[in-house]
Amino acid sequence: MSATARKSAPLPDDIRAMKGGTPIVSLTAYTTPMAQLMDAHCDFVLVGDSVGMVLHGMQNTLAVTMEMMIMHGQAVARGLKSAMLVVDMPFGSYEESPAQAFRNASRMMAETGCAAVKLEGGVHMAETIAFLVARGVPVMAHIGLTPQSINTLGGYKVQGRDAGAGQVLRDARAVADAGAFSVVLEKLPASLSDEITEEIAIPTIGIGASAGCDGQVLVHYDMLGLFTAFKPKFVKRYANLGEDAEKAIAAYAEEVRARAFPAEEHMFADKAPEK
Ligand code: KIV
Repeated sequence: MSATARKSAPLPDDIRAMKGGTPIVSLTAYTTPMAQLMDAHCDFVLVGDSVGMVLHGMQNTLAVTMEMMIMHGQAVARGLKSAMLVVDMPFGSYEESPAQAFRNASRMMAETGCAAVKLEGGVHMAETIAFLVARGVPVMAHIGLTPQSINTLGGYKVQGRDAGAGQVLRDARAVADAGAFSVVLEKLPASLSDEITEEIAIPTIGIGASAGCDGQVLVHYDMLGLFTAFKPKFVKRYANLGEDAEKAIAAYAEEVRARAFPAEEHMFADKAPEK
């Protein structure tokens, strides 16, 4: 299914049905103008909790709140017509119990209009995923490197190498069996990502995983060169907007100091020009 040919946004079941077909396209978005630019090109747009790092200057995603996710979710929703909206559940909003997860996920859906939520975790979140799905909350799972657990994973390392592969496979099976409609695979060896993609019945969405995944997602600040504090190996920069923006800001500052801006055409005369 091509996003450009579509009139209305797909539902989670439509995304599930894309398993094994044309790769699913996704990017993160946090604001209305960016969502508008992505709408015709993406199957779904994710309001990731990466917003804390790339937009709010946080060191990691742990301090991101429900209020932040709802505010950015609403902004992105205003920019979308034909792509599906998925919003991340922030750290601490779903792990305590299935009931806590339902309370916050249903609020997220009601206040942002998102079609699904994403949450991190495999086997240990399976019960919660099943609880949410049974109550009308479509869930996108997220396994492999789960940034909300960096303090227990020991940093942003590649997951699932050697002995770790078995656990990641168990996580993938568990979230699929629990009823997730798709799963993000982050920072895994390509061969393990391919094995998971072949084995489970739901689409895999790779980020630092494999070209063989059923779809791909990137943080748009990374792929547009707007977030330059560091560049993970799995990011391809399709533009250098950060550099361009800095050049433009420097030119503006120089022109203001030289009184070259504003020029005649940017200023108003005493009288309106005669017709
Ligand atoms: O928060 C985020 O942007 C994400 C993507 C990297 C998948 O979870």
